Amino acid sequence: MDTKAQIKYFLFRIGLWNSINLLRKSEDVLRWFATGCSGVAPSPIKMRIVNSYLSRYSIDSFIETGTYLGDTLEYIAHKGIKCISIELSESLYSTACVRFNRYHNVKLINGDSGQELPKLINGINSPVLFWLDGHYSFGPIHQSDAHTPISLELQAILKHHIKKHIILIDDARCFNGTNDYPHLDVLLRMIREDGNYRADVSADIIRLIPITIS
Ligand SMILES: C[S@@+](CC[C@H](N)C(=O)[O-])C[C@H]1O[C@@H](n2cnc3c(N)ncnc32)[C@H](O)[C@@H]1O
Repeated sequence: MDTKAQIKYFLFRIGLWNSINLLRKSEDVLRWFATGCSGVAPSPIKMRIVNSYLSRYSIDSFIETGTYLGDTLEYIAHKGIKCISIELSESLYSTACVRFNRYHNVKLINGDSGQELPKLINGINSPVLFWLDGHYSFGPIHQSDAHTPISLELQAILKHHIKKHIILIDDARCFNGTNDYPHLDVLLRMIREDGNYRADVSADIIRLIPITIS
């Protein structure tokens, strides 16, 4: 771990990192509030949105696709619930293994979530909050053959025998029919036809909530 990561890790351990991170991003957060919470929410807000669904629906398992540096994962893992995160990049996976070494409730998987999630979901027997965020971006991020495995991930979740998962999909703005992202209308039609979830889009997050508990 480099010095920056060590400082961050220390601040997290003493419970200060999330407040400091919120301050660091305060300009973005204030701008987002000032524009009526419309458009893409800054990352500290997105983490809190994910967390709010866990509390609201009393879910005690979290599965994330795309670990990246593990910021959202650590925010959630801190609650002590069972967490699994899948990351394509070997180097990001290795760094995350160091960061999450002391978390006995976190399991990390190195691989393509389009392949790994369908395997993983076979062993699941209770509702999960899925945070689907594995995709290509600029920078040190890895890419598989597809820009995003979202279609494979969603198919696997919708086919699962449990119909009470909470499914949160990041980057709603990218769902325009390019780069392997389905068009948002196509995705929403697929959800309507499935009949088990109702969809809602805000703060750049597509939220699929079971109809039976909405
Ligand atoms: C936007 S970042 C994830 C941020 C993280 N979920 C968070 O909230 O802090 C996207 C991550 O997805 C990873 N990724 C890209 N394609 C993937 C795939 N097919 N399977 C798993 N991870 C993938 C990238 O390497 C990158 O680390």
